[in-house]
Amino acid sequence: MSGPPPIASPQQLLAMATNGLTLHQTLYVAAVLGVADQLEGGPAETSALARRLEVDESALYRVLRYLASQGVFAETEPRTFANNDVSRFLRTGVPGSLRPILIFRGSGYFFEPYGRILHSVRTGLPARSAVYGMDGFEYLRQHPDDARIFDDAMTAITAMMAPAVAHGYDFGAWESVTDVGGGNGLLLGEILRAHPRLRGVLADQPDVLARARERGFLGGDLAARSGYADCDFFREVPAGTRAYLMKSVIHDWDDARAREILRQCRRAVPADGALLLVETRLPEDSAPALGKVVDIAMLLLTGGRERTAEEYRALLADGGFRLSRVVAAAPEIAIIEAVPV
Ligand SMILES: C[S@@+](CC[C@H](N)C(=O)[O-])C[C@H]1O[C@@H](n2cnc3c(N)ncnc32)[C@H](O)[C@@H]1O
Repeated sequence: MSGPPPIASPQQLLAMATNGLTLHQTLYVAAVLGVADQLEGGPAETSALARRLEVDESALYRVLRYLASQGVFAETEPRTFANNDVSRFLRTGVPGSLRPILIFRGSGYFFEPYGRILHSVRTGLPARSAVYGMDGFEYLRQHPDDARIFDDAMTAITAMMAPAVAHGYDFGAWESVTDVGGGNGLLLGEILRAHPRLRGVLADQPDVLARARERGFLGGDLAARSGYADCDFFREVPAGTRAYLMKSVIHDWDDARAREILRQCRRAVPADGALLLVETRLPEDSAPALGKVVDIAMLLLTGGRERTAEEYRALLADGGFRLSRVVAAAPEIAIIEAVPV
């Protein structure tokens, strides 16, 4: 019998929403194992795939059968799987690959706090600190393997919006910019390419900068107009450029810590300069928004939060800045421009 699919009842919709966990974790397995890379040469039988990946054949089959039922991979013959348009984004190194993000999101560093969400809601404190007994960035300083996974995920997330951010604002007007907490340097590289006369400095913790140099986003033709600066933004933000950029940094921190960072930025930004925050746009109403998803991650992981434009205005004022405008660089992303007062 054919006909329109049955409409799910509110009760069924609610029950189905909990299946997101299954999809999340099976995607994680496919990403960690590199299944999509293995299938690049063409379809493969589960038995051959399991041998190559050194995993249990039956378990792998059940995972791939589930993913194929969700539109990720295609089961071209019984127990034979191939890449499709969706699973291709699980490959390593392809433009727009989500593989580093999924590897990060299934890792204990990201995922375990989600099992402790009640702790965060009861106390208002990040569950991750309860899991690891220390602040998340301190944990990363002590665990370079997790730190690399984190940096790569941030790079992949940032890569999705970097062109829109780089072209959505006249960074070139400031002549020089420091990307504070700039991670691997992908965004700064994209901005420098989009604004050929701009000079840029990547400022972050020394271990992060060591990995950034390896990644080389500021190498080649950008090397002559870019540099690196060690920075602990609670102690000092290096002076020397007119504009200061921070993407996804202030949202990592509660208001008190965010103010400390902004005050350090204020000491570095010259009178004719600017501070540019790149953060998610958080609508005031109950519309679905990326910012509301990221906000829960901040609650559980860092103790930070997403903020509305008005909340940023108030925070910036405490840090010695006046919010001058908000540019909608991408559908869910804002560039918040502030000038010193
Ligand atoms: C959420 S990541 C954002 C990275 C990058 N801006 C992006 O959006 O891809 C936060 C960054 O803040 C950096 N960070 C954390 N604590 C820091 C500190 N005390 N001083 C300088 N950078 C710090 C981290 O190393 C990391 O690169």
